[in-house]
Amino acid sequence: MMEAQDIIEEDDTAASAPSSSSAPPPRALPRQRVSLQKSSVCSRSYFMVVMVFFHVYIINVIALLLYVHYNNGSNAITANRDFTRRDNSHKVTGASDPQPPADSGFPRNMYLPRIEGIRVGHVQKVSLVPGKVHEMKTLSLKPLLFEIPGFLSEEECGVVVRLAQLKGLMESQVMVPEGQEELNQQLNLSPEEIFNFLDLNQDGQLQPHEILTHSRVRDGIWLTSENLKEIYDGLKVDQDGDGLLNLEEFRHLKSDAFQRFLLQRGVERSQLVRNSRHTWLYQGQGAHQVLQDLRKVTRLTRLPSSLVELSEPLQVVRYEQGGHYHAHHDSGPVYPETACTHTRLAANTTSPFQTSCRYITVLFYLNNVEEGGETTFPVADNRTYEEASLIQNDVDLLDTRKHCDKGNLRVKPIKGTAVFWYNYLSDGRGWVGEQDEYSLHGGCVVTRGTKWVANNWINVDPDYQRQARYQQFVSQQQETQEQEELMSELNSDQHIERHQDL
Ligand code: OGA
Ligand code: CA
Ligand code: CA
Ligand code: FE2
Repeated sequence: MMEAQDIIEEDDTAASAPSSSSAPPPRALPRQRVSLQKSSVCSRSYFMVVMVFFHVYIINVIALLLYVHYNNGSNAITANRDFTRRDNSHKVTGASDPQPPADSGFPRNMYLPRIEGIRVGHVQKVSLVPGKVHEMKTLSLKPLLFEIPGFLSEEECGVVVRLAQLKGLMESQVMVPEGQEELNQQLNLSPEEIFNFLDLNQDGQLQPHEILTHSRVRDGIWLTSENLKEIYDGLKVDQDGDGLLNLEEFRHLKSDAFQRFLLQRGVERSQLVRNSRHTWLYQGQGAHQVLQDLRKVTRLTRLPSSLVELSEPLQVVRYEQGGHYHAHHDSGPVYPETACTHTRLAANTTSPFQTSCRYITVLFYLNNVEEGGETTFPVADNRTYEEASLIQNDVDLLDTRKHCDKGNLRVKPIKGTAVFWYNYLSDGRGWVGEQDEYSLHGGCVVTRGTKWVANNWINVDPDYQRQARYQQFVSQQQETQEQEELMSELNSDQHIERHQDL
């Protein structure tokens, strides 16, 4: 915003430039000529004015172009143009052939192409397996989201579900985390500091949405405005009864007061952020062929195969009737001090802030749900994104039990369909940029039947060097392992030979 303002100011100076430059002509000009050709002086100064205006105009245009170029780095559509030049989206496309962007300022041998969405409803044909053509439909541009019906066959869906059942699923969320009070004591924060931290808009009051956002993230308990009112009443904390907490009122609260209150009252599974069970299935060498075949997501996403292969295992999720997953981001925001879980082995530092860095989510629907269970994207293709306006007293767009029908986009789960979206924007140089706030999504409550899905997250560290170091580290490990295997094979051969000798 600040930069846009700067440009406008520059424009203002441009507009005022002509008047300030309509000064007398330079003194060095011979007086004679001045008196003889009065009109030519006029036209000369007029010419000067025009030239100055013209130059300032050109400079402004250049400045504007530079501004657009550097600031639209995070704009998916511009990035598409830059990094999928070789993509012919209308034709049947094969595996990606990544080309480093010509203007990258430092040597990089890996880059992330982004698929062009063109427009909502656009269908492009993609070739993912020999002898078959899939159709990929653009569902939204913000986030960049696609749907591919029949990505998995009936049989493949069945195998994945059975493998997950064989492995066993665990609760996706434990009921109540503990130790918050301890953590606060360790950090030694004063009530003022905690209050300031919670007061997102810094107006000296804690609005319901500021408390709700925090407690949902910290405790995993999905409080509603009504719950909050009940807690305020129970703890007699909102003394002036205005529905807000000021610092004085907040001081009377212990940091785990809400949790204690809820524990006493009891928390049901339906009041958690996520009410499902899940398991993880390894997809590498030796895994079931169907799981290895899921690597066709490499062709789908056109990302370097090394990235796909080094990502997390497949997460298979089962929602019972009444199950849900409130709206969330699969990946965290990018801060300088954030470390990605997947690259931590090769990271030099041990950062206390670890997050899963999931560049892309590929979601597979493994069965047909009798009723409900859509995947919702509450703010998809909104004109603006306003975090504060998502939670209103009457409608909370993040609540997938109550308000799924009010979100902007819902995808119906159809067996075998895959959807995928980018959780981050591009940085404009072929790598991961800012988190895409529009990628907010959730699983609507399953009103009848059960729902099976699988998440194939593709991890990329927003820090290019860290990702590169991690890949180098893994390939060195693999080399060492291969050498060891070769050595042991050789040894066992010698062993056999020795036996033969005997
Ligand atoms: C997830 C998720 C959506 C769905 O598992 O992270 O967002 O429809 N699932 O189940
Ligand atoms: Ca506030
Ligand atoms: Ca109050
Ligand atoms: Fe998700």
